[in-house]
Amino acid sequence: MTKNLHISDDLTLPIEVVTMATGILGIRGSGKTNTAGVWAEELLKRGQQVIVIDPQNVWWGLKSSADGKHPGFPVIVFGGNHADVPLGGTEGKQIADFVVERRVPCIFSLRHLTLAAQRRFVTDFSQQLFFRKGEEQYQDPVLVFIDEAHKFVPQKVGPDMTHMVHAIQTLVAEGRASGIGVALIDQRAATVNKDVLTQVELMVVHRTVGPQDKKALDDWIKDNADVERRAEFMKSLAGLPLGRAWFWSVGWLDVFHQVQVRMRETFDSSRTPKPGEKRVTPRTLAEVNLDELREQLASTIEEAMANDPRELKKQVAALQRELQQAQSVQSRAKTTVEQVEVPVITDEQLQRFERCVADLRDLEVYVDNMREALKGAEDLRTFMLEGVRRLKAAKELPTARTETLPGGRTATSVPRSLNPPPRTSQNERTHIRAAATDLTISKTQQRILDALAWYESIGISEPSNLQIGAIALIDATGGHFSNTVGPLSSAGLLQRGGGTMRLTNEGRALASIPDRVATLNDYHDVLRRRILKVRHASPRTVDILNAVIARGGAEMTAEEIGREVGIDHMGGHFSNTIGPLGTLGLIERNRGVVRPTEILFPVGLS
Ligand SMILES: Nc1ncnc2c1ncn2[C@@H]1O[C@H](COP(=O)(O)OP(=O)(O)OP(=O)(O)O)[C@@H](O)[C@H]1O
Ligand SMILES: [Mg+2]
Repeated sequence: MTKNLHISDDLTLPIEVVTMATGILGIRGSGKTNTAGVWAEELLKRGQQVIVIDPQNVWWGLKSSADGKHPGFPVIVFGGNHADVPLGGTEGKQIADFVVERRVPCIFSLRHLTLAAQRRFVTDFSQQLFFRKGEEQYQDPVLVFIDEAHKFVPQKVGPDMTHMVHAIQTLVAEGRASGIGVALIDQRAATVNKDVLTQVELMVVHRTVGPQDKKALDDWIKDNADVERRAEFMKSLAGLPLGRAWFWSVGWLDVFHQVQVRMRETFDSSRTPKPGEKRVTPRTLAEVNLDELREQLASTIEEAMANDPRELKKQVAALQRELQQAQSVQSRAKTTVEQVEVPVITDEQLQRFERCVADLRDLEVYVDNMREALKGAEDLRTFMLEGVRRLKAAKELPTARTETLPGGRTATSVPRSLNPPPRTSQNERTHIRAAATDLTISKTQQRILDALAWYESIGISEPSNLQIGAIALIDATGGHFSNTVGPLSSAGLLQRGGGTMRLTNEGRALASIPDRVATLNDYHDVLRRRILKVRHASPRTVDILNAVIARGGAEMTAEEIGREVGIDHMGGHFSNTIGPLGTLGLIERNRGVVRPTEILFPVGLS
């Protein structure tokens, strides 16, 4: 088998298209799903991972041969009438973990879910896919097909859709480096989000007639095409027959071909039914191994089973059968009337019960208030610790200088004489290492040393404890932190200031820099990855972080953030989601205003 993908008799594409951003567009029934199916077949034949988001349930045919008599590709189908595993819609994150870790091809048939549930699933899945593919061992290529793309990246983005669109936009714009390609399939170029469509590197265009859709395509090509190609392309769009398409890529692929795409070799499950025709259902589908899946997703699948309409129907039918049997036995049995005493609840008991319910409601409100009060106390504590740190720092470092930065933030710079001495030579380090062997350095302690070294590398020689905690992933306000740091200080590996620390030569010799960070963007990427490892953090926490970062250092109200990420800022979910950002000292919250700290925008990085 050649390495190139066989699309038609006169067009092959390099396998590298797996990680490209592709658009497959054209009016209904023009052959888009078939073209995408051919693409998927070619990749699956070459052992590449393919993921399909399928809101119409038309992709499952990949599992059978064209005549339905032989197995096709062993792709796991989640949800729909041909499901290997039911899909409830809430398990996007866990399934993303599974597909990244096990590298299995899969199809998500979403038609049975409401649009809101489809969107929730796609959002959770896309966010988690992006984050998990950031791990080095999982960066093999994967192509994510998104059929009916306008449902997930619409041109008109409603307030409840921002995090979904952002998640897919991130996959398209930033996924390539971690092996993610995306193919957006849609009937109408005009209804797919322009910010996403402009990222497309390879455009496949089937028959297109609508003036707005033609305009959207013209917008895509006009900056890249010469006048003749552009005119030829635009003129031919309305007359393209079924299955015929333009393949157009600018840049390294440099393709400009109009070809008749071959018919797929697997079962044509998106076939347009003819009137009076009886649908053929394939007899043989490829076997898939579900053992690993069951093991990893046991509880998630159980939950989905419990809510799966097909399962529920089966259960209802079984119960009805049981009921009928019971009724027929009963009607055969002799009927006797017997009076039985049944204990009945008295009025007094009922009143007591109602009082209890009312008390419980009061208690619920009380607990909610307490939770809010505790949150306020926590903020106050952080604020006071920071105040104490600054006071002490001011005392100990009288020559420190405070500057006001754009956005009202302040930054303290330390005079050159306080900067760390130059790095030690290799010989010196070996010697220091030998001297320091008395202390066995734990993993957490190593992370603290590494975090200090990392701050040095970006020009911050004496970061605050909170800053160190943010990078070393330790809560810097707890007793655990000072117990961990104590031995490092006694062993002379670091020096503690008032709420700050700096490496000594000995400590520096034992530290390594955990992430290569050259710019503020790199640094924010590190934070995005790390925050997910903090207790109670979720991809939504990253959404909030992104919203704050996007303001470039200016403060925002909680209400604005809530609107941007689609979470009610008054609710407990919002507090829980934003909480980890406060714990790490990335933001300060005060009376509904969220302010980024210098930990989020460190001086020295831009
Ligand atoms: N290249 C082709 N050669 C021959 N027949 C084709 C080709 N492409 C599609 N067809 C036929 O047309 C039918 C409809 O194609 P397909 O489902 O790919 O259209 P679509 O553009 O995805 O439609 P929709 O917008 O409704 O999703 C296919 O089931 C197949 O029978
Ligand atoms: Mg289709």
